[in-house]
Amino acid sequence: MSLALYHEEHGFYSGAGQAGRRGDFITSPEVGPLFGHVVAHAIDAEWARLGRPEVFTLIDYGAGPGTLARGVLAAEPECGYALRYVAVEQSVEQRAQHPEAILSLDALTPEVIGDGIVGVVLANELLDNLAFTPLQRDGGALRMLDVTVGPDGGLTLVRSATARDLEQLFDPAVESAVLQEDATTWLAGAQSVLTRGRVIVIDYARRRSAEVEIRTYAEHEQAGDPLAGLGTKDITVDVDLEQLERVVGPADEIRSQAAWLASHGIDALVEEGRRMWDQNASVGDLSALRFRSRIREADALLDPAGLGGFSVAEWVVG
Ligand SMILES: C[S@@+](CC[C@H](N)C(=O)[O-])C[C@H]1O[C@@H](n2cnc3c(N)ncnc32)[C@H](O)[C@@H]1O
Repeated sequence: MSLALYHEEHGFYSGAGQAGRRGDFITSPEVGPLFGHVVAHAIDAEWARLGRPEVFTLIDYGAGPGTLARGVLAAEPECGYALRYVAVEQSVEQRAQHPEAILSLDALTPEVIGDGIVGVVLANELLDNLAFTPLQRDGGALRMLDVTVGPDGGLTLVRSATARDLEQLFDPAVESAVLQEDATTWLAGAQSVLTRGRVIVIDYARRRSAEVEIRTYAEHEQAGDPLAGLGTKDITVDVDLEQLERVVGPADEIRSQAAWLASHGIDALVEEGRRMWDQNASVGDLSALRFRSRIREADALLDPAGLGGFSVAEWVVG
């Protein structure tokens, strides 16, 4: 969990398991095409707000296998003719699955950034994947913790030799927290590549640093102590919105995923799905089944105890 176990190339803790929930839970784009359809509405709204620029870039950061891209393109957004869809994904295997219609990269390049991007940088379940460092208050100050091998051969947390003044990042009452430097660095970078537009972060998150928890998952279950069972579980963390805001500035809006999807028209899409299914159920073709599937997808995407309870934080630039 400490930076000592952070894998420079792959961005996860190579020693103690993977950060993130890969394999153990599905993400919103993987629920079905409805999520991408609503994202298409959201980027159309931003394109309109920016005055319908001729070139409008969507950077899908940590794009996985490109499922969101397929959903957005299938929805045929109004901004489609102006849309430059850039998927940034570090994994070669995932990039190999990206649709041909998009620009697929392992990192943002100066060519893509040019004189600055007009558009949207979106990260769905990226920030919880990034490296973090647990902190514990000790002797009045917050101290970084490192993972080391204890005398019994198991992993244990020890006070890091690296001392940092972390007090400006956290309230004095915070007894333990999680330093999310990679996430804040990513967010500052995302803001800096935009000349006009917005950064949209979608993730499981907490509004207060003191509420943030390190989570472990294995086989669809919470998996207890992150230091036990080396390599058998995914290690992840709630995104600390208070910390992000202290570093990069206040978000313009933070909503639940359910509220954000509602504001971009999920209800109308589900209603249309219901109507089309009622009209075409007797045919039962693929298109009718896709419309019916919106009802099931919406249930998963809006579930307050699941994906609907995720946070959508937006920072407007320019
Ligand atoms: C949990 S998956 C989410 C995938 C996709 N956004 C979705 O919602 O289905 C996180 C993805 O971020 C990628 N990733 C993690 N760190 C990254 C980085 N620094 N640069 C690019 N991709 C990264 C991982 O390889 C993984 O595919």
